[in-house]
Amino acid sequence: NGIDPQMWSDIFSVEKVTDLKPMSIETNGMLAQKTVLRQPLKIGEYSLKISTRSDNRIFIPDGSELKYLHLPPAISQLSYDLNHGYDMVSDIHWGKPSNSKIDELLQWILRNRKKFMVAGELVPKELHTDFVCYRGLLAKIMTTPYETSHRWVICATKYRGTIYLCQFHESYPPPDDYYNKMSFGGFRFESFVTSYDPTIPPDPNDFDPDHHEYCAVMRSRLMAENVSHSLAFGAELDCVVPNLRENPGTLSNFVELKTTKVMAKEFQYRNFLKHKLLKWWAQSYLVGVPSIYCGYKDEKNVVKDVEQLKIESFPELCLEFWSANVCLNFLNKFLLHLKELVTIDDPNVVYQLAFQPHHDITCTRLVEPGDFQILPQWYIDEFAV
Ligand code: A3P
Ligand code: MG
Ligand code: MG
Repeated sequence: NGIDPQMWSDIFSVEKVTDLKPMSIETNGMLAQKTVLRQPLKIGEYSLKISTRSDNRIFIPDGSELKYLHLPPAISQLSYDLNHGYDMVSDIHWGKPSNSKIDELLQWILRNRKKFMVAGELVPKELHTDFVCYRGLLAKIMTTPYETSHRWVICATKYRGTIYLCQFHESYPPPDDYYNKMSFGGFRFESFVTSYDPTIPPDPNDFDPDHHEYCAVMRSRLMAENVSHSLAFGAELDCVVPNLRENPGTLSNFVELKTTKVMAKEFQYRNFLKHKLLKWWAQSYLVGVPSIYCGYKDEKNVVKDVEQLKIESFPELCLEFWSANVCLNFLNKFLLHLKELVTIDDPNVVYQLAFQPHHDITCTRLVEPGDFQILPQWYIDEFAV
């Protein structure tokens, strides 16, 4: 789903075939807590091996790509050079968004349809779930009230009562070397602090350029005053902490890994709270991952300091810049709007929602979905029997 630049600008400029009521991004009255997310529970897992050079993707129906966090006992003495190994892989476009739509999540669903059955149901005919999507899409919507620079396109299809959502990414030319190296650094940091074996620490010289992802499938419910939305969503998870007691069914023993530049000046720290912590909060809050291990990169792109940041502390820390209530209330408003908009239950009908900063979200029903089709024929066929 990498959309070429011409097609992308058409989405925002060309006259629409069917123009539906746009959705306002106004958030007046959204500061109070009205919407809550029920504790997200894990209902399954799968793994992916993605070749960064060929884009070939392999779906593995188990948790074999789960990695464990390893930090040295003396955190003050660590030193991770995030440039290490970059020379060998500088031809790879490191920040490139995935172009796989939601196929792998759908594969998992087909294999686990029983998990969606309700009491008394003999054959699984529907998922009894309002929305199916990736966690990243939910985070994107939640943070939209504060988005002032990036546009997005999300498509929706209703099939057997469930609305499937998929984000479509703009295709970019390869980034310049500096930006590419920064994206590589995020993955390199992960390889310094994680390994497949909880008892064997990672080899700092070892780096596999392919992506190895562990994904969890989560279930939750967004609950507002007179309405609620059941959700099933997939999420890529960085690692689990060895020997940490988990709260069964939750991701309480997982951590998210991030890197950011050392902040020397007040304005840098304020920007960090305003932009990064908003995104980091939305990403981890949605799956109930309680903390982030943040590696601070110095001017040479070397991490000499890692700090554990608690997700629950972010909303108060960032009160001046963004509100968790606004994010959750807006997500509720968006999902409610989708339920009103996406009325035709047909796997071949696609509704397209497009956002650009400072504008309402436009809603279009595509007569010919083409590349924007979300559900593949193999998924529809399997359900039809
Ligand atoms: P950092 O954000 O720590 O630098 P995630 O943190 O979501 O698990 O992503 C892991 C890494 O993938 C990021 O590490 C970053 O290097 C890279 N990455 C993810 N999304 C990206 C994007 N939109 N553009 C560029 N790089 C991205
Ligand atoms: Mg990750
Ligand atoms: Mg990460």
